[in-house]
Amino acid sequence: MDYKSEIAKVLAGITELDIENVLKLIEIPPQSDMGDYAFPCFVLAKTMRKAPQMIAQDVAANEAFTSVSWLSKIVNAGPYVNFYIDRGSFAKDIVGNIIDLGDTYGEDNVGEGKTIIVEYSSPNIAKPFHVGHAFTTIIGNSLAKIYTKLGYKVVRMNHLGDYGTQFGKLITAYRLWGDEEKLNESPIDELLRIYVKFHEEEKNDPSLTTSARENFKKLEDGCPEEVELWKKFRDMSLVVFNKLYDRMGISFDNYNGESFYSTMSNDVVKMLQDKNLLVESEGAQVVDLEEYGYPPCIILKSDGTTIYASRDLAAAMYRYDNYKFDKNIYVVGIPQALHFKQVFAVLKKAGFDYADNCEHVGFGLVKFKNMKFSTRDGNIVLLEELIDEAVAKTKEIITNNCKQRGVEMTEDEINMISEKVGLGAVIYTYVKSGRERDIVFSWEEMLDFEGDTAPYLIYTYARTRSILRKAKEQGLEPDKDKTNLLINDDEYMLIRNLADFKSSVSKAAASNEPFMISRQVSQIARAYNRFYNNSSILGAESDDLKCARLALCEAVCDTIKSGLNLVGIDVVERM
Ligand code: ARG
Repeated sequence: MDYKSEIAKVLAGITELDIENVLKLIEIPPQSDMGDYAFPCFVLAKTMRKAPQMIAQDVAANEAFTSVSWLSKIVNAGPYVNFYIDRGSFAKDIVGNIIDLGDTYGEDNVGEGKTIIVEYSSPNIAKPFHVGHAFTTIIGNSLAKIYTKLGYKVVRMNHLGDYGTQFGKLITAYRLWGDEEKLNESPIDELLRIYVKFHEEEKNDPSLTTSARENFKKLEDGCPEEVELWKKFRDMSLVVFNKLYDRMGISFDNYNGESFYSTMSNDVVKMLQDKNLLVESEGAQVVDLEEYGYPPCIILKSDGTTIYASRDLAAAMYRYDNYKFDKNIYVVGIPQALHFKQVFAVLKKAGFDYADNCEHVGFGLVKFKNMKFSTRDGNIVLLEELIDEAVAKTKEIITNNCKQRGVEMTEDEINMISEKVGLGAVIYTYVKSGRERDIVFSWEEMLDFEGDTAPYLIYTYARTRSILRKAKEQGLEPDKDKTNLLINDDEYMLIRNLADFKSSVSKAAASNEPFMISRQVSQIARAYNRFYNNSSILGAESDDLKCARLALCEAVCDTIKSGLNLVGIDVVERM
């Protein structure tokens, strides 16, 4: 039940305000002893020509509230009316509801009948998958899950960087120095090696530049041999990327990359010409965007070739034609913000109103604190390396914990748990703060089992599950019908946090910020641990209270699991 709306309904019935306005006025008091909701009466004073204190007194005494069973108290404090929710009914309502819904708690149907395109990951083929690309991959995957949870039809798109002059260079380089065997063994390493070599050799040998240009031209013209090589590089890169995606539980509906849209960019040029939007500038064809305050958007370079922006225009049009999207989201780094502003402005100028439903969702940079990696090139850290290292360190910690606590676990089980927790620790670091903030990795922080980390959250989940198992052995089951007994301060605070989970999902969608959810889950875990430290669950005074607290444990598990799942993290049942 939405308590605020229910209170607003009654207030609207007894004042001359409508529900909308009442909702805007209702506040959450700064201290819990001042009630759960407060209604200030200043606004009413004018129309009612009465002092707000008097109005507050009348409202508090109004008999419309006497029949509301879930309110324990209504008192006026000066010009305010303070509402106290009955903790028992509140607990029963919230916990019971979560248990009924299980890990579908948080679902909604606001998105029913609407389509959202989420473009994310979009790595450049033949290049290593580094920690920066993980940012878009993780945020995008989470947004796709969040929108799905809210009932939208989500199309997950991976706009691969599989087009451009660099493929002419790669073809030339491969023919000169490529090693088939190494390519099969470790495609990206080999492609990177010959690409770097090309740039070194090119400095002294201009014929390489010419050859690369010719090969790119052949590729564009569809010459079979060049296309075949390009396709090979693309397919092999995708095998590598897909292994990573699988490991992270990430998938896409569509891998149409830049090459796919390049064939359509001529139509874009024609459309812009027909609408008289193309002007010449230093030999290039551009769309002037002065009225938007942006620099002109280049559509055709002086040599007549199309560029990145033309392909993005083609892609947006293709997406609209094929999916009639209600929203089209691009999860791409902040440095490309202007590019997207220009692309959306060109669409708008060309009369496509869906430009207003296109949104660039940016994110910050990835940094490291005291971390060394073996990567040859000092500047880039591979995602795989980061995950492998996190998993290995987690394994050490878990193995030690098991020894200390005298817990027996098979090697397989330890490996499975370490993989999930280590991977979770990496993913959580990307989603724990607002996405526009730079993130800093540090082993101590991300693997701190007591900090704001995935290991802490997963551990809280696993330990709670183990309490539920232990209870079962003693013949005790969660009983949601007894949850009206959960009225102490810790229980009440925890249940309030659980109740707020649902709105954290809608807030995350409204701002495209997965951290709204991770933060809520983290607050739930903190509140739960406070409750756990202060109240005994299996040692509670009565069996009824034990079973009520077990129900609370179950609701906590359902919510943590559901929340972590929305940011792309899996839980484990024991650790
Ligand atoms: N492949 C590009 C990169 O790695 C990102 C593509 C972003 N998406 C787009 N529609 N332009 O920088």
